[in-house]
Amino acid sequence: MNPAAPENLIYTPESYVDRLDYRAMFAKDQPLEVEIGCGDGGFLGQFAARHPERNFIGVERLKGRLGKLDRRGRREGLTNIRLMRIEATYFVQYLLQPRSVEAMHIYFPDPWPKKRHHKNRLIQPPFLDVLTGALRKEGTVFLRTDNIPYFEQMVEVFGADSRFEAIETPDELKVVVTDFEREFNAQGIPTNYAAYRLTA
Ligand SMILES: C[S@@+](CC[C@H](N)C(=O)[O-])C[C@H]1O[C@@H](n2cnc3c(N)ncnc32)[C@H](O)[C@@H]1O
Repeated sequence: MNPAAPENLIYTPESYVDRLDYRAMFAKDQPLEVEIGCGDGGFLGQFAARHPERNFIGVERLKGRLGKLDRRGRREGLTNIRLMRIEATYFVQYLLQPRSVEAMHIYFPDPWPKKRHHKNRLIQPPFLDVLTGALRKEGTVFLRTDNIPYFEQMVEVFGADSRFEAIETPDELKVVVTDFEREFNAQGIPTNYAAYRLTA
């Protein structure tokens, strides 16, 4: 397959126990960003189109949602996106190359509102260990959510981790809204933003 013009943006690796070969996945060797839980791909489609000088991997476990972004990306001729249907933590821990990612985008992760389900939330201390293994030096994590208790948890977990420092979310990122965000904002529910930079 010519990686410059893939028939399908959904990438199925030959192996799920070897780390990804980015050169085989993308037309150009350029900085990598990852969106975890990319959903229908409204953010990733727009942001990747604005940044042809970066490569993007979108991770999502629902096939139907990935299919929408696949069709849109091919229609628009995007060659800098690959999509993977896989469990996010496994992907970050075992498939990404160590210290290879410039930025992680995590927008509106499932809030698991019931207390007994909080253990299922993605943003917890063990996940930060996984993230730091994949992020490059001074790599960034961008977070958004509508859910105030989960936002407080995000700020607490990152705030307690001396490997990260809080930064501002750039305006050029804020203007690119996600699908869930558009719906929440239309109902008058605002977006809560947080962003962190790895200090080492
Ligand atoms: C609330 S939606 C937000 C989608 C998108 N980020 C947006 O803002 O429009 C959360 C998405 O994350 C996906 N997701 C949740 N947990 C996941 C996991 N462990 N691995 C991969 N995808 C996951 C869900 O299938 C869902 O599409």
